[in-house]
This record gives sequence, structure tokens and C-alpha cells, in this order.
Amino acid sequence: GWKMEDVMEEEIKVIKSMVGPDDHVICALSGGVDSTVAATLVHKAIGDRLHCIFVDNGLLRYKEQDRVMGTFEKDLHLPVTCVDASVQFLSELKGVTDPEKKRKIIGKEFISVFDAFSHDLEKKLGRKPTYLVQGTLYPDVIESCPPPGSGRTHSHTIKSHHNVGGLPKDMKLKLIEPLKLLFKDEVRELGKILDVPVGFLKRHPFPGPGLAVRIPGDVTQGNALDILRQVDEIFIQAIKDAGIYDEIWQAFAVFLPIKTTGVQGDQRTHSNAVALRAVTSQDGMTADWYYFEHKFLDDVSRKICNSVRGVNRVCLDITSKPPSTIEWE
Ligand code: XMP
Repeated sequence: GWKMEDVMEEEIKVIKSMVGPDDHVICALSGGVDSTVAATLVHKAIGDRLHCIFVDNGLLRYKEQDRVMGTFEKDLHLPVTCVDASVQFLSELKGVTDPEKKRKIIGKEFISVFDAFSHDLEKKLGRKPTYLVQGTLYPDVIESCPPPGSGRTHSHTIKSHHNVGGLPKDMKLKLIEPLKLLFKDEVRELGKILDVPVGFLKRHPFPGPGLAVRIPGDVTQGNALDILRQVDEIFIQAIKDAGIYDEIWQAFAVFLPIKTTGVQGDQRTHSNAVALRAVTSQDGMTADWYYFEHKFLDDVSRKICNSVRGVNRVCLDITSKPPSTIEWE
């Protein structure tokens, strides 16, 4: 392994020499570990010539915007513009049920928000931003022709990976990818040195399209998003309270677009069902479903039905990957 202090110093030196004194740099923060560590490192090198954007696409988890903005601003002092584009995203997604179409719309809307941010910045600064920071990791980059003895290599052949290449190519931004030689555990170590809170560094991955891939069908149906946020929060909090969060690669709730009969109080109900999913994995390519204790599941299921209006049934997803994917869409 490499000494992360050295990696940090070296990267800062490289960034400082690459970015000229009048250059400005932009970065889209997802709320995930990689973009946060990348931005923090670049900020350390060039200060407030870095300009970050965080987009609320209306598909975020419970209190996600407050939580990540808190970390960005209070803990890391990153210059971040938070754009609430939820109305725009959700109106474009209304009535759309095809999973790939949903992804395309979310990608397109993101680019339009990012474009507007970049133009506003240009007006304010009187010049175009020249660089874009991306939190690309080593596993996202395929080695094409490794020079002998070099260990790891820089390369630009990119796997068709969800997180890579989502921004417009005609923006002519040069890329800064300070993590592209690192593995995930090394990024966490680097983050620690950069004072990113440890709790943040251990966060489970969260997909770019957010809750949209956890609501089969139209994401705007009924109060699906609101229900999903509440159920997900109860599930994740219970996992943290049980001390098993770090054993799990990813855990979340899925909204099931069906209604089933229940009996709550003396009333028959006809309400929604939700599914819980938790998996262990090394890299997300394959995954095993996680074995919860029965008592844990019983407690969570009761808590969900007792406190989330509109839910009367809780199911557990007991499929691994393959044959299922981790997300439901
Ligand atoms: P699947 O569902 O394909 O997910 O087994 C593997 C990992 O990738 C994440 N994922 C996504 N991440 N955009 C993302 O940024 C996406 O469209 C997307 N789809 C899946 C998923 O959460 C899991 O960690």
C-alpha cells in the first residue's frame, strides 16, 4: 500500500501546478464519498477557485440535502451552491415507467442544471471555468497498456460505468481526477486525513438516479416518494442502532406499486407494500443478500407499519446478485 499522506501531498502539488492562477474549477457533488473526497482535496490545493454544486433532484433520501450540506459547509468548508431542481426533475418524470427512460431523463435534467450553474458562474467570474473535478476511482478505469514496473497506470479507456461520463462533452472542460489511481478503501483513508467525518466516509453507496430506481413504475405515483423516504429512514436507523451498518454494502427500501389488504386497529385497510433489501458485496458486481436476525426484522416491520401511513405490509428481498441486480430497476 501507499502512504496516503504522500499521495495527498503529491496530488496537491500536481493540482496546483496544473490549475493556473486565473483558472476556475467546478465540481458536482453527489453526496457520496468519492466526489466529496475529490472536492476536498482540490479545495485544499486551490481554495475558493473551486466551485461545487449539489443538486436536489427530488429523488433524495430523507433529509439528505440538509445532512450532506451540513457536512460540506460545517465540516469541510467547501464552497457549494445547492440547487433545488426537484420540481423540474419530477415534472419531467411524471408518467414515465420505463427504467432506462427514467435514467435518461434524470441524466438530461442533471446536465441542464449543471449547464445553467456553469453559465451563471461564467457571468459572475467574467470567464469560463476551465476544469471539472470527478471522483473517478481506479476500478472505474481499465488498464490499457501498463508500463512495466509502474504498479498502477493512468489510462483513459473507461468501463461503461454508471458514474462515469455523465457530463456533456461539448463543455470543453479539462478533467481533474485526483482519485483515479486509488481503490475505495484508499479513498476512505485519504478522506480521513482530509478531515472528512468518518461516519460520512462509511456511507453506503447511493445510485445517481436515487429513489427513482426504487419505485418500479412512475416515481410520482401517489405519495410513493414520501412513503419510501420514511420507510428507508426507519430501516437504516435500525441497522445503525443494531451496529451492523458497516457489515452491509447497501441497504434500502423499495416501494411496491401494489395495494394489498391489511387489518390495522379494527379497520380493514387497502394500502401499499414495501420491500427491504440489504446486501453484502465487495464491489457491487456480485452481491449476497444479508441474513438479519429474526428479532431485528420483526421490530423493523412493526415499526414501519405503526409509523408510516399508507403501509400495511413489509416484505424482505432474499435474492442475491445474480440473478437479481442490487437495485430493483
Ligand atoms: P445493480 O442494481 O446494477 O447496482 O446491481 C450495482 C451498484 O450500482 C448502483 N447503481 C447505480 N449507480 N447510477 C448510479 O450512479 C445508476 O443508474 C445506478 N444503478 C445502479 C447500485 O446502487 C449498486 O451500488
